[in-house]
Amino acid sequence: MSLLSVGVDVERLLSELETLAGFSDAASPAVTRVLWTEQDIAAHRYLSELFEEAGLAVRVDALGNTFARWTGTDPDAAPVGTGSHADAIPESGRYDGTVGVLGALEAFRALKRAGFVPHRPLEILLFTAEEPTRFGIGCLGSRVLSGAMPPENAGALADKDGRTVDTVRQEAGFRGSLQSVPLPNGYYAAFAELHIEQGPILEKEKWDIGVVTAIAAPAALRVTLTGEGGHAGAVLMPDRRDALLAAAEIALAVEQAAKGSGHPDTVATTGVLRVFPGAVNSIPGRVEMEIDVRDTDLSRRDHAVKQIREAVAERAGERKIESSVVVLNADPPAICAPAIVRAVEAASKGLGFSCRPMISRAYHDTLFMARIAPAGMIFIPCRNGVSHRPDEYCAPAQMEKGVAVLAQTLATLSQRESRVDDAAP
Ligand code: HGY
Ligand code: MN
Ligand code: MN
Repeated sequence: MSLLSVGVDVERLLSELETLAGFSDAASPAVTRVLWTEQDIAAHRYLSELFEEAGLAVRVDALGNTFARWTGTDPDAAPVGTGSHADAIPESGRYDGTVGVLGALEAFRALKRAGFVPHRPLEILLFTAEEPTRFGIGCLGSRVLSGAMPPENAGALADKDGRTVDTVRQEAGFRGSLQSVPLPNGYYAAFAELHIEQGPILEKEKWDIGVVTAIAAPAALRVTLTGEGGHAGAVLMPDRRDALLAAAEIALAVEQAAKGSGHPDTVATTGVLRVFPGAVNSIPGRVEMEIDVRDTDLSRRDHAVKQIREAVAERAGERKIESSVVVLNADPPAICAPAIVRAVEAASKGLGFSCRPMISRAYHDTLFMARIAPAGMIFIPCRNGVSHRPDEYCAPAQMEKGVAVLAQTLATLSQRESRVDDAAP
């Protein structure tokens, strides 16, 4: 596929990112956009309107996943997919996910302005709930789309108020049977997601583009510790069963399980700690912890999870605290398709951008799309590698390069002669 000279309208992209960031339950520059809150629904509506303005055929599935298709000369051919998510964890930034959604839209518009017509359809997927914030599990939409999670299991997930996915999605206007959500194998001929790196490598080593070769294996656990509450003044220390102290020792054991693995790719975080009843003069009777454990190597990740489970039993046991551990998810890593990696590398080289292969330590919807299509990712640098924080930032020039590489990659993959199912490295 000859190189396309697509002009990316980065000013328009920045303006749309700015508008999208305004749909938030946090004060700027922070962004909070939790699944199916008013702000999330408004953001979804805004994005759907932009897709329609660009002349794309938009459909929404029963879980809220939104498909915006540019029909090619062969409407019946399996499309080439792209896209990302627009939900944002509390007090985070404005580029995580959104660059992959609005960047894909700008790539489509740039290709149209260049007079390009795809053979295969090109389709933007706006995924439901890549973030785990509301229902405790990440990539909810892509899990169900890829068959990684049975639709009925997804529908039964409950938020902290006990409201289920099935109830809340219908209140948000997404109806129909969840059984209709999973995509057949081969639905997409290929899938490529644009995303900020969320790490420091590209900026530190001064690369324009990162081409992802694998996505680390994420797991999440919910630990519940039940001791005995009571009056903070009246109960003497020897008579206490303080659940928070067991949690404190377990949080340190979580850190040790990662640090002690002997490999820098093992990471673990206790990101959520809910203390009940949560009054300064009341002994914590019950505590809920949510723990995130990841590694590029599945056996090391699973070993860290095993050590954490053992630490929960040991620390809680010593303090006569009841404990339970629920594994919310424990997913295998994803390997990106060599053909997609090659297409991204060729696009970067053709455009004169430096490009390095790398592993994604963050998970993404591509982790699941790789189960049903040859898939890959394009990374662009973000300032100091910061993400999931209000000071997350991606420079316009970096975004412009990422969108140009995405446009070229999609153009290449959507051609009749493109062979994307070869496993050849
Ligand atoms: O947590 C992650 O890796 C992703 O950013 N949700
Ligand atoms: Mn994220
Ligand atoms: Mn993301």
